[in-house]
Amino acid sequence: MVKHKASRIKTEAIASAAGDGISPRVISVTSGKGGVGKTNIVGSLAMALSRLGQKVMVLDADLGLANIDIIFGIHPAYNIGHVIGGEKTLSEIIVDGPAGIRIIPAGSGFINLTHLTEGQKLSLLSEFETLGDGLDILLIDTSAGISQNVIYFNLAADDCIIVATSEPTSITDAYAMMKVMAVDHGTKYFKLLVNMVKDDQEAKSVYANLSQATDRFLPDVAIEYIGYIPGDELVKKAIKKRKPVLELFPGAEFTKMIEKTAKGIIEWPRRTASDGNIKFFLKRYIDYRVAEAIGSEEEVPKI
Ligand SMILES: Nc1ncnc2c1ncn2[C@@H]1O[C@H](COP(=O)(O)OP(=O)(O)OP(=O)(O)O)[C@@H](O)[C@H]1O
Ligand SMILES: [Mg+2]
Repeated sequence: MVKHKASRIKTEAIASAAGDGISPRVISVTSGKGGVGKTNIVGSLAMALSRLGQKVMVLDADLGLANIDIIFGIHPAYNIGHVIGGEKTLSEIIVDGPAGIRIIPAGSGFINLTHLTEGQKLSLLSEFETLGDGLDILLIDTSAGISQNVIYFNLAADDCIIVATSEPTSITDAYAMMKVMAVDHGTKYFKLLVNMVKDDQEAKSVYANLSQATDRFLPDVAIEYIGYIPGDELVKKAIKKRKPVLELFPGAEFTKMIEKTAKGIIEWPRRTASDGNIKFFLKRYIDYRVAEAIGSEEEVPKI
């Protein structure tokens, strides 16, 4: 029941966004297994994209401890929960990161979105609407795992990058994520970025592994291999200094591969004529959550 409602909501939301001119691309960066490097990749890609002239915003939806604050050396005092609670406006919680990147600290505030009144929801959506002005890319750093919260961010985004490493558990968990999104929500396209590998060959074997499994068990799913990021000790050095790797080690192989991936992202074709803007991304996300809440109430057996 929830599944049908959710896919109908997505279609309707996309349809209502149609006709919108230039709108930012919303990309979620996600994984099945934790600790595969999502936050590090989001921070680094944001830097690279920004240096390539893109106006980038990061939505920190990672509820873990090692989040984007550490990568950028920032200390946000407020998060989206304060906006929902009416204590702050969206522009008051947005933090400036390096290279002109703006960060929305989401924290656990997003969890309460299902409890918004219609008025609160409309005012939050209209605040988000203004965020899209002059923005090219919104990158979402999700938590790991197939919790509904993560799945909804992935569904609401225009593109979903799955990060995996060559560890068997990371591969099986990446498959599990794709399976839930494909079977329960009809998602057909995924982009795969392989992290912490030696070279392209090792990364391609992760891709081969995953695509063999999807070809066999999820025939409607297409995975696009978008590249790899090498495992590099310099990443840890940069984190210790709370400085982006790209700033500290411009010549490192890690930096080169992040830059290559960022160039690829800029060239991605749009999947639909109009993928909607930030407001519609948030609306899709809220609608999924509300549909889930209604669905679970409906499914409570009546005694
Ligand atoms: N390419 C890399 N080379 C070396 N170390 C890396 C690389 N990518 C990530 N790391 C390290 O791996 C650890 C996990 O990275 P990160 O926090 O970005 O993962 P995550 O997927 O966001 O984790 P979580 O699921 O907890 O949010 C960090 O210590 C980070 O420095
Ligand atoms: Mg993380």
